Amino acid sequence: MLKVAFAPDTIPGQNALILTVAEKRKLGEQGQKLDKKLGGALSRAMESSHFTGAKEQTLTIMAPAKTRLTRLVLVGIGDPAKSNAALFTRVGAAAVAALNGKDAQAVLLVDRFNSLTLAVGEAAAQAALGARLRSYRFDKYRTKMKADQKPALKHLIVACKETSAAKARYAPLDKVADGVYLARDLVSEPANILYPETLAQHAASLAELGVKVDILDEKQMKKLGMGALLGVAQGSVNPPRLVTMQWLGDTAAKDKAPVCFIGKGVTFDTGGISLKPPGGMEAMKHDMAGAAAVIGAIKALAGRKAKANVVGVIGLVENMPSGAAQRPGDVITTASGQTVEIISTDAEGRMVLADALWYAQEKFKPRCLVDLATLTGAIVIALAGEHAGLFSNDDKLCDQLTQAGKSVEETLWRFPLGEAYDKLINCPIADMKNHGGRDAGSITAAQFLQRFVRKGALWAHLDIAGTAWQSKDLPLSVKGATAYGVRLLDRFVADNFEDRIEF
Ligand code: BES
Ligand code: MN
Ligand code: ZN
Repeated sequence: MLKVAFAPDTIPGQNALILTVAEKRKLGEQGQKLDKKLGGALSRAMESSHFTGAKEQTLTIMAPAKTRLTRLVLVGIGDPAKSNAALFTRVGAAAVAALNGKDAQAVLLVDRFNSLTLAVGEAAAQAALGARLRSYRFDKYRTKMKADQKPALKHLIVACKETSAAKARYAPLDKVADGVYLARDLVSEPANILYPETLAQHAASLAELGVKVDILDEKQMKKLGMGALLGVAQGSVNPPRLVTMQWLGDTAAKDKAPVCFIGKGVTFDTGGISLKPPGGMEAMKHDMAGAAAVIGAIKALAGRKAKANVVGVIGLVENMPSGAAQRPGDVITTASGQTVEIISTDAEGRMVLADALWYAQEKFKPRCLVDLATLTGAIVIALAGEHAGLFSNDDKLCDQLTQAGKSVEETLWRFPLGEAYDKLINCPIADMKNHGGRDAGSITAAQFLQRFVRKGALWAHLDIAGTAWQSKDLPLSVKGATAYGVRLLDRFVADNFEDRIEF
């Protein structure tokens, strides 16, 4: 795992150096000094390439003469007067992605520019976060990796003029990165290793951070009448779990109604008797990404000792076809008392969430509910991996979530809800059916969830089926699990439920 440290902004004598450069090939305070020392080599290198210092652009100069540096990487920040936190997160990420070589140690010098809109300490902290996010890998099952396939970078020193401010600002961000790492690990684990019981154990490990974790087993869920969740689980030899994680960080008011996050945790989704086609089914190990995001967010909040009361509730099941599996046509009774006819056993996420949502409201009387779920293929068709779908009964909650998503570049796009859509899940033989047909598939899924939200409760649903897993590298994550939602939820809490931390 990459280790990050901070240091004053001096030019190092050896190893790799990454230096920030502004648009129009403008060097900052330290950059100008270095260029002079090197007889204008930096300026010449920039002029003889297409490097202009545009955002996230990089240029590598190998073994620059008159130094003992192995390489010098220039990384663009664009117009310093238009920079923000998210940009520097990307700059830090671009920096480590550009290294991609032999260096075990590197210095990332976040240089000063007079017109920089961000304090340089804040910029450095954000760059450090980006470096950590981008350097995540899941290599634990690769036993034959050659040296040149392994990430070389072990230590990154982020250098800037405001070292102590950078350190202080980075401390909570480092905890957020820990939450992201945990969520990515969980999403990446195969389903033979990660099933409801083992996923619950991972959640239980948050107790170390002062989180109160409770795990309900099948028997307890039966008592609570959770026929929806149990119906999905009954086809699998791996028994289900329902986990609650309470972080009561509002020390002045531990009894204040909590914010509640609910996660879909289907550790593998075969579709059940409504079996999915085989091509690409292996991807369904990530059908627990909503639960992983909730675990990761609670880890981040507890890690940085957020001054807010937040509860996570995750429903954990494996959706398998077997002689014991539920059938299309079965009618089940949910914990809310409402009945559902199963049309497709592949519409299982909403069943799990129906009981988890109900339980969360009964147990915690939360001030608002936000659920995250890899719920529908239709959201992938609508938005690809660019945004997650947002569905809610409250405009203000939507604004808060949308704003938080923008800040951390985990963006949301709102979809409508309404009676006309709700009608599509009416059913002649039960209170509702679990599948409203192909049209507006993501919306009818959300309408289904809304039937388990109590009158007056503030609720939002995030359909993360397109954003939880990516088939290509992104600025802040390599191909694979993104941990989408961890940073968004952390930010949502920071901006709306605790005093803003000012530096
Ligand atoms: N887990 C899937 C949704 C999904 C699709 C997640 C692609 C990630 C990537 C969900 O349980 C599902 O199977 N949904 C069905 C619902 C349908 C049967 C109403 C779908 O989207 O096809
Ligand atoms: Mn499914
Ligand atoms: Zn699913």
